[in-house]
Amino acid sequence: MESLDVLVEEARGAFASARNAADLEQVKARYLGKSGALTEQLKGLGKLPPEERPRAGSRINEAKASLELMVTQRRDALRSVELEARLREEALDVTLPGRGQGGGGLHPVTRTRLRVERLFRSLGFEVAAGPEIETDFYNFTALNTPEDHPARSMHDTFYLKDSAALLRTHTSPIQIRHMESHQPPFRIISPGRVYRVDSDATHSPMFHQLEGLWIDANVSFSDLKGVVAEFLRSFFERSDLKVRFRPSFFPFTEPSAEIDMSFGDGWLEIGGSGMVHPNVLRHVNVDPTRHQGFAFGMGLDRLTMLRYGVRDLRLFFENDLRFLEQFR
Ligand code: DAH
Repeated sequence: MESLDVLVEEARGAFASARNAADLEQVKARYLGKSGALTEQLKGLGKLPPEERPRAGSRINEAKASLELMVTQRRDALRSVELEARLREEALDVTLPGRGQGGGGLHPVTRTRLRVERLFRSLGFEVAAGPEIETDFYNFTALNTPEDHPARSMHDTFYLKDSAALLRTHTSPIQIRHMESHQPPFRIISPGRVYRVDSDATHSPMFHQLEGLWIDANVSFSDLKGVVAEFLRSFFERSDLKVRFRPSFFPFTEPSAEIDMSFGDGWLEIGGSGMVHPNVLRHVNVDPTRHQGFAFGMGLDRLTMLRYGVRDLRLFFENDLRFLEQFR
């Protein structure tokens, strides 16, 4: 049975050169299939003389077993080659730097707002808020602003179409809303967004203001000066900062003053202020003979520009990360 040994060796070579699972199945069929080479040998057993059959039969079965072993071994080998290839292909380089989950940061104006709130809280002020869409009444009328005041013109104010509403032009309506719903004394600040038809390097159609109000039995103009000076010195961390009150006019205060602070060799306007006008107090049923006090309004963006040395207000609202990331 020389031919059987030859067949086994030939099969060994054929299995070894099977490149993949499909190849392997074909080779297997060629030897072990229904009309495979080895199967043919088994079928030929019947033609042998009876006394030779057992020996030949067992040799063929041995050959069959070793071929079957070849199949499993080759199958395992192909599998692990395949697995390795896949692992190589799908490999993750865990040493690659991540795709940047950069931490966020607070907007510079938000940082100013939080700082301002903290400083005023330490002076006993509460923080109040109000709507950005206001009515003519709260934005103007209740603040003693006459019908023909230039601020009321379409030129300066964003009015909402087909309604009496407008985008508040200042945070002063908070004074009215707060006094309507609280009993004196009042001591509040209110930071927030305001809107005006205005746009250049130092004006934006949307900007931020800080309103202040202190009403009590005996609040005077010197309290106004003390609070504002104390605040500005703490905010800019400069105890030598000078504050100047320059006579001015606002419909809702009497007397009124612009607030200037020393800046380099000169002065810089930082807000408006004054003693709350008796008409404003009467509008909210506060008796001006028993309660009085001061109010002020400052630009939060202005404060931020000065603190960080930013020259152009528009940078705050362009959302350019190269700018914003510097404040992280
Ligand atoms: N509301 C004023 C403005 O936007 C600023 C202001 C001035 C507010 C005087 C005040 C104040 O509370 O007393 O120009």
